[in-house]
Amino acid sequence: MSIRGIISLPGDKSISHRTLMLASLTGGDCVINNISTGDDVERTRKCLADCGIKSEKKGTTVLVKGGSLESPKIPLNCGNSGTTVRLLAGLLSGSGVTAKFIGDKSLSKRPMNRIIDPLTKMGVIIDSENGHLPISVTSQKLIGINYSQPISSAQVKSCIILAGLGAFGVTQIQEKIKSRDHTEIMLKQLGAEINNGEVVSVKPLKKPLDEFKITIPGDPSSAAFFASAAAMIPNSDLTINNVLANPTRIGFFKIIEKMGADIEWNNMRKEGGEWVGDVHIFSQPLNGLHITAEFIPSIIDEIPIIAVLATQADSPTVIEGANELRVKESDRIKAICQNLQSMGAEIIEKQDGFIINPSKKLQYANIQTFGDHRIAMAFSIAGLLTSNKNTLDDEKCINISLPEFSDILSNICQ
Ligand code: S3P
Repeated sequence: MSIRGIISLPGDKSISHRTLMLASLTGGDCVINNISTGDDVERTRKCLADCGIKSEKKGTTVLVKGGSLESPKIPLNCGNSGTTVRLLAGLLSGSGVTAKFIGDKSLSKRPMNRIIDPLTKMGVIIDSENGHLPISVTSQKLIGINYSQPISSAQVKSCIILAGLGAFGVTQIQEKIKSRDHTEIMLKQLGAEINNGEVVSVKPLKKPLDEFKITIPGDPSSAAFFASAAAMIPNSDLTINNVLANPTRIGFFKIIEKMGADIEWNNMRKEGGEWVGDVHIFSQPLNGLHITAEFIPSIIDEIPIIAVLATQADSPTVIEGANELRVKESDRIKAICQNLQSMGAEIIEKQDGFIINPSKKLQYANIQTFGDHRIAMAFSIAGLLTSNKNTLDDEKCINISLPEFSDILSNICQ
C-alpha cells in the first residue's frame, strides 16, 4: 500500500472560529466559504446564535448577519472547544455582554485562569469553579492592559485582543514565542487598528468591522495526518491543495522536512492576508530530531502525529518544552506514550515531552483516545503501519475537527 492522490481539505479550524466571531462585529452580511466542518466550529456558531447573531449554513458556506451581541438567556455550551470558550469570553466581555460558559468533561478540566487573570485585570467580573468551567463573565467598563503572557497561547492572546476592542485605551500583549496570529491578521484586514509586531497592540473599535466574503484555506493541522502517512509509507506521493501556510502554522512541514521527507510548496499566494499554497509530499527515509521549546507553539496540535512518524525514523527523536500538551483536549503526553507503548514502540515519558527510539515494527492495538480527536486520527494513521488496523475506543471524537477523515484516508490509500 502507498499514499497517492491530490486532495483539498475543509477550512482551517482556527480561522473558522475567528471568521464567525468577527462577522458578529461587522455592520452587515458576511459570507464564509469552506468553513471547518467539525463540531467545535459549529459550537461557536450556536453560541453566537444564543447571543443574537443570526447565521445560515448551506453546505460548507455560512452567511452571517453582523449586529449587536446580546446577553444569552441560557448558558453557552462550548462542548469540547477551548477556542470557543476562550475567544468568546474575550469577545463578549468587550461587547458588554454577560454570559455563563459550560463545556464537556474534558473542557471542564482545562485551565481557565489564563483568561480569568487578564480579563479580571481589564475590569471583567468573573465567577468560576476554581479556575475551571462553568465560568460567568459580567462585563463592566473595560480598560486596556499591558500583558506579558507567561505561556504562549493564541487562544489567550486572542481573548485579550477581542476584549481590547471594547476597552478604554490601548491593549498590549507580549509573548515569549509567537503563537498563531490569525486574529491579528483578520482584524487588520477588516479595518481595526491593530499592530501585529513583537508586541501586539490594539485600539478600541470606533466603528463596526468591514463586512467580508472569505474562502477559508485548508487546515494545515488536518493536512498533517495525511502528509505523515505519505512521508512514512514507501512509494507515496501526495498533493494537498489550498493549505493555509501562515508561518506560525507550518512548523510541522518544516519538522518533517528536517526529518528527511521531501516537501515542495507550490503556487504560494496571499488570500485575505494569509499565505496559502499547494503542498506536495514524497516518501523518503526518515531520521530522528531533537525538538525544543521554541518550536512547540508552531506544532502544538501536530505533536501526536509527529510522535507516530518518529517511530519510523532511523535515529531517536526528543520532544521537550511541551508541557502545554498536558492540558489540551486530553493529557496528550500520556495519551501518546500509553498508546505507542501498547503498539510496541520504545518511548520514554518525560514531564514536558518524550523520547522515542526507532521502533519500525509496530503491532496493532486497542487505542485509548481519551475522547481526543487528534489522538484518534494520529493512531488511525499509525494503524496503517501494522498488519491489522488499530481499533479505537471512540471514533466519533474525530468529528470534533474533521468528520471527513476516514473518507479522505480511504481515497488516498492505494
Ligand atoms: C488555537 C490555538 C492553539 C491550538 C488550538 C487552537 C486557536 O492553542 O492548540 O487547537 O485557534 O487559537 P493555544 O495557542 O492556546 O495553545
